[in-house]
Amino acid sequence: MNLDKNVVIDDKKSIRSFVLRGGRLTELQKNAIEKYSDSYCIPFKTGLSLQSESIFNNKNPLTIEIGFGMGVTTASIAALFPEINYLGIEVFLSGVGKLLNEIHTQKLDNVRIIRFDAVEVLQEMILDNSIAGFHIFFPDPWQKKKHNKRRLVKKEFIELMQRKLVPGGYIYVVTDWTPYAEWILEEFEKVDGLVNYASNGYCDPVSWRPITKFEQKGIAENHTIYEIWIEKTIKIRK
Ligand SMILES: C[S@@+](CC[C@H](N)C(=O)[O-])C[C@H]1O[C@@H](n2cnc3c(N)ncnc32)[C@H](O)[C@@H]1O
Repeated sequence: MNLDKNVVIDDKKSIRSFVLRGGRLTELQKNAIEKYSDSYCIPFKTGLSLQSESIFNNKNPLTIEIGFGMGVTTASIAALFPEINYLGIEVFLSGVGKLLNEIHTQKLDNVRIIRFDAVEVLQEMILDNSIAGFHIFFPDPWQKKKHNKRRLVKKEFIELMQRKLVPGGYIYVVTDWTPYAEWILEEFEKVDGLVNYASNGYCDPVSWRPITKFEQKGIAENHTIYEIWIEKTIKIRK
């Protein structure tokens, strides 16, 4: 599978939440991509309705991690919870290679990868009311005002995630950028059918989340880590 052909990006056409980073692949990443893509990567395709059963051939809950970077956190969480399925979406090829290597070395049966824009993956490939949870750890903050429109976690994308969640499913976002944390809370407020149980908006640190690569940088710069946990409300019929 040629993963490079899998990403066709035209930045002029639409506003994306990422810029495709080049960067050389290490031998390990290249080797992992060549050997394991066919087993663990799902090519982008429009008009699908994927869910746990069609990807993993079981009915375990399906969680999606968006922008997994090098995938270290994805692999650790998947190893902790073998009874949950994880779909990682990332455009950064080195990260895909690194996670493929982890999947192979840790023998993780419960992880698959899609290398494409997460917005389009959700729109085109994922069944509504089917996702148990979304993880978004340290999304690019797009700090300059003129770039704020590139931020991934905004009203339209939250609406899309809300539609994909099962009732009671969650969206878990962590950031170290204060203005982005405040923005995310405001954007969540604009979407119906979600509830935030934290009295000041931010939840306590979640015990099973390992520290990510970007988090380490934030901590080194004395940034506060903001954790946000939102759930899809359950409608009770009379
Ligand atoms: C700041 S990094 C954080 C990586 C990792 N979660 C961590 O904490 O170390 C954000 C990542 O999100 C990815 N990303 C941003 N927008 C994306 C999108 N629409 N679809 C897929 N990946 C995206 C970028 O390629 C980048 O690797």
